[in-house]
Amino acid sequence: MIIQKTANSRISSFDPENYSFGDHFIDHMIVCEYENGKWGEVKLMPYGQLPFSPANMAFNYGQACFEGMKAYKDKDGEVYLFRVNKNFERINKSAKRLAMPEVPEEVFVGGLKALMDIDRAWIPAGEGKSLYIRPLIFATEEGLKARVSNKYMFAIVAAPAKSYYSAPVSVKISDYFSRAASGGVGSAKAAGNYAASFYPTQLANEEGYEQIIWTDDSTHEYFEESGTMNVFVRIGDTIYTPPTSEKILDGVTRDSFIQLAKHRGMDIRVEPISVKTVLEAQKAGTLKEIWGVGTAVVTTAFKAIGYKDEKFELPVLSEEESFALTLKNDLVNIQTNAAEDPFGWRVKVEKNVLETV
Ligand code: COI
Repeated sequence: MIIQKTANSRISSFDPENYSFGDHFIDHMIVCEYENGKWGEVKLMPYGQLPFSPANMAFNYGQACFEGMKAYKDKDGEVYLFRVNKNFERINKSAKRLAMPEVPEEVFVGGLKALMDIDRAWIPAGEGKSLYIRPLIFATEEGLKARVSNKYMFAIVAAPAKSYYSAPVSVKISDYFSRAASGGVGSAKAAGNYAASFYPTQLANEEGYEQIIWTDDSTHEYFEESGTMNVFVRIGDTIYTPPTSEKILDGVTRDSFIQLAKHRGMDIRVEPISVKTVLEAQKAGTLKEIWGVGTAVVTTAFKAIGYKDEKFELPVLSEEESFALTLKNDLVNIQTNAAEDPFGWRVKVEKNVLETV
């Protein structure tokens, strides 16, 4: 690994009590370039701008995918990552679907651990706080022919995080727009999936909704995801979440919620959930909760759902009554080393990783 430490740490200008999600970057970043059919040496360097031409293929044809991960500090100041292998495997699935080269484990995991070690002072401790980590792969070749790029960059940047959408939000069930289509790239964390979601979300915002519940592209009868999150619905005491598919992202938080619910003996069903079932449950008074999960948000509760011209309020539950919050607390306690980890999900970042790379 090539290591260039910054001579000018910016940490003293960062106020850990006053920041918002994703807008202060840690002192260093990881970059690794792919050229002539192979990845080069991983470079840990000061965070900063990189020079790219407007003719860069990533900008023009969208060969770009990313991951979302977090690092946590426990009460003793030790640093932990979470289910690193899931993100490593998924970035390579995304890369494959976008005809980009897969990154080797030593580049992804080695780079990640080195970056977390050198910038561990940037990882905020305390309730709801963490460091959001963004590994990404993008094309870097200059050229306007619509073809697969021959050059790429893998990079990792990171920014202190706190709750992303903290208050419960209102969501609109989509009856027209879709996030993903059969045979498309919905299960890849393709940058373009997010770009395509912004316009429908702006329209929902104009109607007074913060997010959209994405439904299937052919019938709009089944829930798929919500905003940038996977979705869970509770009817009575049963939790439902749609099965992953080529249209639904295999979310790490989603999978963790399923395993935690099973561990608690909750009735959780991974099966298609229809708009009709949800609306009927709402009318019958058995619809208790709908929530989204993702790395950035962990959990966002929904306070109202809109469908066509109607808007329905969801019950307001206490922290003890809410399955969403119960599972969120279980998850966060494992992530932050405040509870046992029966699943082996936590990955400790040892000190002085740089001396071993
Ligand atoms: C994540 O939860 O990591 C996401 O990918 C959402 C992100 C777009 C902020």
